[in-house]
Amino acid sequence: MRRARRPVVVIGSGVAGMATALAAAPAPVRLLCRAADGSGSASALAQGGIAAALGDGDGSGAHARDTLEAGANHNDVAAVRWLCAAAPDTVAWLAAQGVAFDRGPDGRLQLGREGGHGAHRIAHAGGDATGAALVRALRAQVQTAAHVQWRGGVDAEALLLRDGRVAGVRVRDGQGRHEEIEAAAVVLATGGIGALWAHTSNPPGADGAGLALALAAGAAARDLEFVQFHPTALAVEGHSLPLLTEALRGAGARLVDSTGEPLMRDLHPLGDLAPRDVVARRVWQACRQGGGAWLDATSIEGDWRVRFPTVLAACRAHGLDPRRERLPITPVAHFHMGGVATDLDGRSSLPGLYAVGEAACNGVHGANRLASNSLLEAVAGGRRLGAVLAAAAPAAGQGVHRWAERGVSLSPESLSALRGLLWRAAGPVREAVALRDAWRVCAAAADAGWQMRLAKALLRAMRLRRRSLGAHCREDRGCPM
Ligand code: SIN
Repeated sequence: MRRARRPVVVIGSGVAGMATALAAAPAPVRLLCRAADGSGSASALAQGGIAAALGDGDGSGAHARDTLEAGANHNDVAAVRWLCAAAPDTVAWLAAQGVAFDRGPDGRLQLGREGGHGAHRIAHAGGDATGAALVRALRAQVQTAAHVQWRGGVDAEALLLRDGRVAGVRVRDGQGRHEEIEAAAVVLATGGIGALWAHTSNPPGADGAGLALALAAGAAARDLEFVQFHPTALAVEGHSLPLLTEALRGAGARLVDSTGEPLMRDLHPLGDLAPRDVVARRVWQACRQGGGAWLDATSIEGDWRVRFPTVLAACRAHGLDPRRERLPITPVAHFHMGGVATDLDGRSSLPGLYAVGEAACNGVHGANRLASNSLLEAVAGGRRLGAVLAAAAPAAGQGVHRWAERGVSLSPESLSALRGLLWRAAGPVREAVALRDAWRVCAAAADAGWQMRLAKALLRAMRLRRRSLGAHCREDRGCPM
């Protein structure tokens, strides 16, 4: 009797997971995610667009140079070349999936500019709502794809290891019921770790759960110390704060201090559009010094409801009007350059386990990601990984098996304390004593929950990288402020 082909299990419903699932056809795919309706991914919140060298006089070589410079040349050069070369085709593929990119009257893409880019090369959809547009289009494709079975409302809490290979996953639903799923391959598309910090642009589910699972199973991690802080979130109460997209600065918004003076004066040749780590440190410093920092976007022309509907709605929800008044800002934990170590096909060090998008680290972003390279990498990487999995043979073997458990979760009070600890010790500016003390707290409480163990691993990497590089700024070791 022929055995049914084991599915590829993809964990995560953001664009990386969905692009992987679509490209894996005809292999059967089970797409698992925590929210019952598939919402809650960081992708859906992404305001930036997709970087692609599509403008006159631009080229993938220039895009690659900007990517390397932003990444402090810590990037894997082959990965950067691949990503930048794949970008135009990725935009075309997304348009074919139904993403309505913003175009001018002549039908050509309207290309915006963001920090660290030497050219106008950011394709947007729905103004500052590109992530939501991608999620909508890919979800429509996934829902009609016969090879994909979608399962929301479950949390992956353990990986099945058989003969040294990842061969399945155990999930738990909202009622506490368990299900074990045997898999030809398991893909972590679980996003980043920003929600472990007190203030973040990420949704609460971006808590590193996939990375913690991979570490529990013994997979190698890479570059864990590199966490990007976005310089301009709206400084209001709360944990997940509204982002004020960098595209605002590309359109003419200015960073100012409490007296209205330019915040970035004499700091970087690109001024307000300097790489994100440089701007984030300056904003952090201004906030720490007590004066605060503001984004003045009042000079931006055109219809905000078309150009920046997401920012406009977020500001209004807090009683602010960006067209008439300057906006208080704070840096927020935004993107993890590190993650599960993979090759360009998404293979981790554990056979059968793959990672893609922000959960993975293939070296493409180096020490600091260039703006609008993340949706790009999620889609391009997902398509590449899906094509590999389409051809993958089902895992064989009935040998010795064990479950690698992520372990219990922290209590809400302990999680909140951990977020405060990482905010203070592991923010845009770090130093040895605070990192050591924070690591000790996490080491002492490692059994309290998996988030503590993950934080301990992150802090260890931050302590081991003694010199400043990219987004990892050691105040005690020559951080360029
Ligand atoms: C932004 O719109 O400023 C964020 C875009 C990104 O993170 O690439």
